[in-house]
Formats: sequence, structure tokens, C-alpha cells
Amino acid sequence: MPAERSQAAGRVTISEVAAEAGVGRATAARTLGGYGHVSPELRQRVLAAAEKLGYRANALARSMSTGVSHTIGVIVADIGNPFFAGLVRGVCDASRARGFDTIVLSTYEDLDEEVAATNVLIDKRVDGMIIASAAVSGREVGHVKEALTRGVPVVLVDRAIPALDLDAVVIDNRDAAREAVERLIAAGHRRIGFVWGPPMAQPPATRRELLAAASRNLWTDGERLRGYLDALDDARIPFDPELVMVGRKVEERVTQEVARMLSLPDRITALFCTETEAVTGALRALRAAGLSYPRDVALIGFDDSAWAAVMDPPLTMIAQPVHELGAKAAEVLLDIVQGAETGRETHTLRSRLIVRSSVGPPPSI
Ligand code: RIB
Repeated sequence: MPAERSQAAGRVTISEVAAEAGVGRATAARTLGGYGHVSPELRQRVLAAAEKLGYRANALARSMSTGVSHTIGVIVADIGNPFFAGLVRGVCDASRARGFDTIVLSTYEDLDEEVAATNVLIDKRVDGMIIASAAVSGREVGHVKEALTRGVPVVLVDRAIPALDLDAVVIDNRDAAREAVERLIAAGHRRIGFVWGPPMAQPPATRRELLAAASRNLWTDGERLRGYLDALDDARIPFDPELVMVGRKVEERVTQEVARMLSLPDRITALFCTETEAVTGALRALRAAGLSYPRDVALIGFDDSAWAAVMDPPLTMIAQPVHELGAKAAEVLLDIVQGAETGRETHTLRSRLIVRSSVGPPPSI
């Protein structure tokens, strides 16, 4: 009986390799699938036949028979953001070093996209997945629970989800934000703008209202806001809700809100910007107002990049260990995949404040 040809054009099947080697299909399957026992003599015959016919293992079929795909998935909010690009590089490098491939999916901070991406990875039978989630509450993680129910381990990266008892690899967001704002205060600033706060429809009337909105927002954003407030409290600087940008987290809103803060009677003299588009939006507002940093406004940003170092003057920025974040998340996940008994743990990596030249004393307004 001629061995069945696979449907896909030209794909050699296990049965064809078995026929060529003169062994049973099960022997060929065990040899090519890398599981079970096969005598050295038969193994050699199967491998020689596979090479002669140009056999390529059908990875998905193999994963279905062995339950192992040697592939993990990583879901990030925006692969175009240098932060996530560096993080994904760390995941890929660490997983490759342990013999695993990586499938990368980007969700643009859209939860529906994240749910769809999770289902793609489940269907692709990944051995585990790493998620930098857009979910902001325990009510939005049904897709993560679905993966866990199907036996697919999940590690969170960059954003913890307190409602989920999962391993997470994050940075010290709150301490990093507090240290940056303390540096602005030490330079003499008291009117310090915060960009960006939670996407609220209306500006907060009180600190409590702002923090309540932050708790319904991304964990990283909330932690950075709490670090800003910690520094103000430690210096006994009263919190002014007018100095926090809220609303849609997009660059043009940042520019509008910073322009508003600059036009206040008691205007801001410093800005703490919590990620890349918060920095670029603030710089656009300064330029539109004919102001410059650090002469008119001191500025510290989050997520250092090559461009921040070549600005004139170069920007003082918080640098996250992006490659290490990804690599550590992959190591934690692969330990779980490969059977290590690990308790649920949040691994907190340290960021660094890269002091350059965007902080000076308040102008004599
Ligand atoms: O969009 C990228 C930013 O959000 C980074 O600061 C990262 O920490 C993520 O949470």
C-alpha cells in the first residue's frame, strides 16, 4: 500500500519515511518525534530515510501527539514601542537559549485583541505564554484564566494584575517615579506636572478621586502616579489636581494638557513624564509656547531611548532593564514549563535614573 501523500504539496509523511526505512509507522513516529524507545539500528534506518526523502517534522502534529511544542508565546501592547521591542528581544534570546521558539503578538492596548491573541496561542499549542496585559482589573482576565484552565502556564511581564495569583516580572515603578520627582524637588521645584494620569472623562476634584481612577487603570501608570504623590508628600508639597494630565493617553492630549499647565497663573516649572509619548507630547507643548528645558521647565521622563541621549540638551530619563525583563519572564515561564515547582512570585527588577541635562532650577518667573 503506497504510503499516503500528505495534503500539503510535497510534504513527506511519517508513513512514507517508515516505508522507505522498512519499519513500522510507530517506530518511525517515535524516532522522528523524539519520544519512546527505538533501537540504534532502526533509528539509523529511519533517520537515513527521512534525510533521503527530505522529511520535515510537522511541528503542530508533533505537539498534538507529544503535548510539547517547544514554543512559547509573548503578547505585548505595542511592538512598535521601543520598550516592548527590547522586552521581546529578551524573551526571544532567553527562550532560544533553552531550545524554544517564540511567537510574538501585539495588541495595541486593546483587550479584545489581547483575548484573540491568547486564543491564537492556545490554538498553536504553545507550551506557555508571557503577557504584558492591557487588562486593568480582575474582571477582565477571563482569557488568562482560560489559558490556565487548558494547562497553559502564564507569566505576566511589565504589568502586574493584583487580582491574579500569577508569576510576574516587573520593575520598581513607584520607587523610580518617587526618585525622579525627588530630584526635581531637590532642584527647587514645587509646581511639578504629572503626565500621564488615568484616562478620566473629567479632571479629578480630589486626590482620592484620582487614585480611584488610577486603580482602574494600568498597574504601571498607577504605580508611577503613587510615586509622584509620595515625593510630594515627603516634601510637604500640597497636591494640586490641576497639575495631573488625565484623559486619553495620546500624545496630542499631552500637548494640550501641558499647554494648559503652562498657562496657569502659578504655572508648572517642572514635568515628570511617565513614558515615551508623554515626553514627546510635553516637548511639543514647550516648543509651541516658545519655552525650553531646562531653562523654563525642568523635565524627567520614563523609558530611556537612544534619542533621549542625543537631544540637545540630553534628557534625564528613567531607564528600564527591558531586555532583562523579557529574559527573566522567559526563564520563569520555561522553569514552569519544564516542571520546576515554583511558588507564585513577583520578580521586581531595578530601573536606573540616567541623569543628563534636562533638570535645572526654577526660572525666576
Ligand atoms: O507603553 C510602554 C510603557 O508602558 C512602558 O513604560 C511600560 O512600562 C509599559 O507599562
